Amino acid sequence: MKKALITGINGQDGSYLSEYLIKQGYQVHGILRRHSVAENQDVRIKDMDVKTYYGELTDEISLFKILRKVKPDVIYNLAAMSHVGISNELPIFTVKTNSLAVMQLLELAKEICPEAKIYQASSSEMFGNSIDKDGFQRLSTTMNPVSPYGCSKVMAYNLIRYYRNAYNKFYCNGILFNHESPRRGSNFVTNKVIKSIVMIKKNIIKKLELGNLDSMRDWGHSKDYVRAMHLIVNHKKADDFVIATGETRSVKDMVNYVFAKLSIPVKKHLSINKKYFRPEELKYLKGDCSKAKKILKWKPKNNIKSLIKIMIDAELKRLKNI
Ligand code: GDD
Repeated sequence: MKKALITGINGQDGSYLSEYLIKQGYQVHGILRRHSVAENQDVRIKDMDVKTYYGELTDEISLFKILRKVKPDVIYNLAAMSHVGISNELPIFTVKTNSLAVMQLLELAKEICPEAKIYQASSSEMFGNSIDKDGFQRLSTTMNPVSPYGCSKVMAYNLIRYYRNAYNKFYCNGILFNHESPRRGSNFVTNKVIKSIVMIKKNIIKKLELGNLDSMRDWGHSKDYVRAMHLIVNHKKADDFVIATGETRSVKDMVNYVFAKLSIPVKKHLSINKKYFRPEELKYLKGDCSKAKKILKWKPKNNIKSLIKIMIDAELKRLKNI
């Protein structure tokens, strides 16, 4: 059985990837960060057949021990400080976790499991406000990040490419555009909006408070994107790919759509709070995933509308079961 090691296994992507890899016949191992609320430690993966280890990307000794114990065939590095807004409050921690720790991981992997393939969770946030003339971002688009998070991910992206070339390693980047699901953290905009509007519908809360409504995002379903991760790692050549839907919508359109779907008037229940604005906003994302479509034969099964329906239904079900 091939062994996959997932950092960030208890995250949205880590949990969907675990399910997917188990079905593909992998033995799945994962690193769990200690959480002060014990119930939240492994909340997304607790019923899955995975082996977990306490660890922390920035704690190189823990990483060393886990790599030596597992000797993985493939490592999916999904752990990160993944909230763009919060990266402005925690810039040093963000860079330590998202950049320096990746270098540590690459150095340790080189010594302990030199044949292991590595997938790095790279991000469309790396492009910042660069847009090609045709309105898309792709591998050749200049990276011009506008957040500590974006800067940290550019460094990790380049480290993967450098180690791949310098040491002839099977290391790859998936540049994933925004991807959501019912398992998304509730401080990311889609899940915050959907959970809040469903709770307004149920008279549990009265208001939804948001920040910038004008930014545009290319939103896909996390389940579709973990399929792409596996395809990237199993392609015959180590390479980098953009994974996106190729459609973009403003936050405002997404919010209006969810309000309309639940038949609730927007004006009465929505307010803007400056605290959710970022020092510099990434205004527009739309990914060109034609390379993944052509080479990996990957395409998303969901679009923003099917994704929102899945997330609303899941939230209604969750509230019913409380
Ligand atoms: N989180 C949040 N909360 N975002 C808000 C809010 C709010 O109350 N109000 C407006 N927004 C806007 C943000 O300013 C941003 O323009 C947009 O909604 C999306 O925000 P997020 O859902 O937090 O995602 P993100 O685009 O910043 O980052 C996500 O996508 C990246 C890929 O592009 C994260 O998943 C990153 O980890 C990922 O790399």
